[in-house]
Amino acid sequence: MTSIIAKRKAVHGQLVQQQRRNEALEKDMVQLEALANLGSATAMIAHEINNLLTPLTNYAELSLKHTDDRELAERTLRRTAKNCKQAGKVMESILSLAKAGCGEKIEAPLLPMINAVFDCLCRDFTKDGITVEVLVSADLQVYASPVQLQQAIMNLVLNAREAMLPHGGKLTIAAQMDSNGALIKISDTGCGIEQSEMSRVFDTFFTTKHKKIAEQSTCGEHSRTGTGLGLALCKKVIDAHGGTITVESHPGKGTTFTISLPKK
Ligand SMILES: Nc1ncnc2c1ncn2[C@@H]1O[C@H](COP(=O)(O)OP(=O)(O)OP(=O)(O)O)[C@@H](O)[C@H]1O
Ligand SMILES: [Mg+2]
Repeated sequence: MTSIIAKRKAVHGQLVQQQRRNEALEKDMVQLEALANLGSATAMIAHEINNLLTPLTNYAELSLKHTDDRELAERTLRRTAKNCKQAGKVMESILSLAKAGCGEKIEAPLLPMINAVFDCLCRDFTKDGITVEVLVSADLQVYASPVQLQQAIMNLVLNAREAMLPHGGKLTIAAQMDSNGALIKISDTGCGIEQSEMSRVFDTFFTTKHKKIAEQSTCGEHSRTGTGLGLALCKKVIDAHGGTITVESHPGKGTTFTISLPKK
């Protein structure tokens, strides 16, 4: 009899110990998850700051080559000020993605965000044979964090441009409202995505850009390879908005990314 009681006590003691171990492991897991989120947010901030700094380097170098061109110097400084301001906002805003949610959302017109993307990129798309068509009405409003949505669109535009090098093509950005919210489509007539790669394009660090993109460009811009963070950021941003981002592609013909953002 006593041995049964003693055995029960021992089992109970082991159970209590195991429960404590489980609780400690759960705590570690939460902490590790927070650290992983912080790690990917930090990599994404670096990626977005690089997206904003790269065009400035090209501009500054051009300006240094033509020191007597006052208008070019002024344009360079204006763009530097603008992109630095955006970089500051990006740091704060993308860091908030590491915690749950996307931070502050407001109702704001979409068109100025798209225009700001092209301003920040400081690139003449026509020099690469790319025609840009923006079919977005000035009064179309989205419920979003403008800083984050702007960076997501910037990555989709950069990918579309890179997919169309070196032959050029057409980039179309269209948006409309439907009963659920806003529908934004970014299409290009570039190289397209192979069927076998479609399920991986949103994965962090998935890239096919191992070759130097600048070798294909006519702009003489700085060479770079892909890091595979652009679409991962887009997905993180749109998920945090409660929206969806999907892709449709035809190899050799082009690609369309569709973002759906819920109403307020
Ligand atoms: N519009 C597009 N046309 C063709 N392929 C695309 C397009 N957008 C994305 N991809 C494919 O998806 C991959 C991942 O894109 P993502 O933007 O995440 O990374 P990346 O462009 O390679 O590098 P970076 O981190 O500099 O953006 C690309 O390497 C490319 O293979
Ligand atoms: Mg990219």
